[in-house]
Amino acid sequence: MYNTLLVETDSGICTITINRPDKLNALNKEVFNDLDKAIDEVYRNADIRSAIITGSGNKAFVAGADISEFLELTPEQAPALAKRGQDVFDKIENSPKPIVAAVNGFALGGGCELALACHFIYASENAKFGQPEVNLGLIPGYGGTQRLAQVAGRNRAMEMIMSGKMIGAKEAMQYGIVNEVTPPEELIPKVKETLTLIQGKAPVAVAKVIECINNFDHTQQGYDVEVKKFGECFQTEDMKEGASAFLEKRKANFKGK
Ligand code: COA
Repeated sequence: MYNTLLVETDSGICTITINRPDKLNALNKEVFNDLDKAIDEVYRNADIRSAIITGSGNKAFVAGADISEFLELTPEQAPALAKRGQDVFDKIENSPKPIVAAVNGFALGGGCELALACHFIYASENAKFGQPEVNLGLIPGYGGTQRLAQVAGRNRAMEMIMSGKMIGAKEAMQYGIVNEVTPPEELIPKVKETLTLIQGKAPVAVAKVIECINNFDHTQQGYDVEVKKFGECFQTEDMKEGASAFLEKRKANFKGK
């Protein structure tokens, strides 16, 4: 079904593996088209409750946008390439189901931006993060200047993006980019463990958490969205079930309604 991805779903968790290992899983037009379709399927398919994005092979998550597509681009065409990437990554960020990046090697340029668009990131000990676009006379174009500044803070983002230097998994955790660092063989099992925990919660509430936190911007608007979404939870059967189950000292049986 996909030329550039391996996709499989097990126990509600859809694992999307970017599969161009000979090019360190670089993101070309075809990967974006495939990823766009795979994320649509995550939204649409009721059997999918959450997703993982990872890279094939043991060297790279994604080593960036495919640089071989850059030289033919005109200044008029380049913004459309950035917009296309941003649209696909926004779709990941706005997914009502959790999508976690399992970073298993280089996450550079568009790879770092892809990981940042996921709801959170787990990384293997050999992972490396960086925005090396300045080495090519470029800047990040798939949301990196915004999301890295939001996640790691303005000053860390300034240093990483201006210098193009790579940081390791532990440093990325200190920066707030990575939630957990694991040995390589434990990466996917650890992400699945956390997603299984989340899948036990009320799906509508989980979707609203994503929506609220995506509106996190230090302004009143974020708080107002939270008030609205909090109110909307009270329209759901799951909220009544969750509160009742607590009071009745039993496990909640959520239906996603
Ligand atoms: N775009 C296109 N091809 C890429 C790529 C990218 N972003 N990153 C790696 N590749 C290709 C290489 O060209 C090479 O292909 P080849 O075997 O046909 O020559 C293959 O993947 C393996 O990469 P290689 O550079 O030989 O591996 P390495 O272990 O020596 O170095 C990196 C690994 C990640 C340090 C290096 O590949 C690199 O710097 N990549 C570019 C990172 C980048 O600038 N990303 C931002 C793009 S905007």
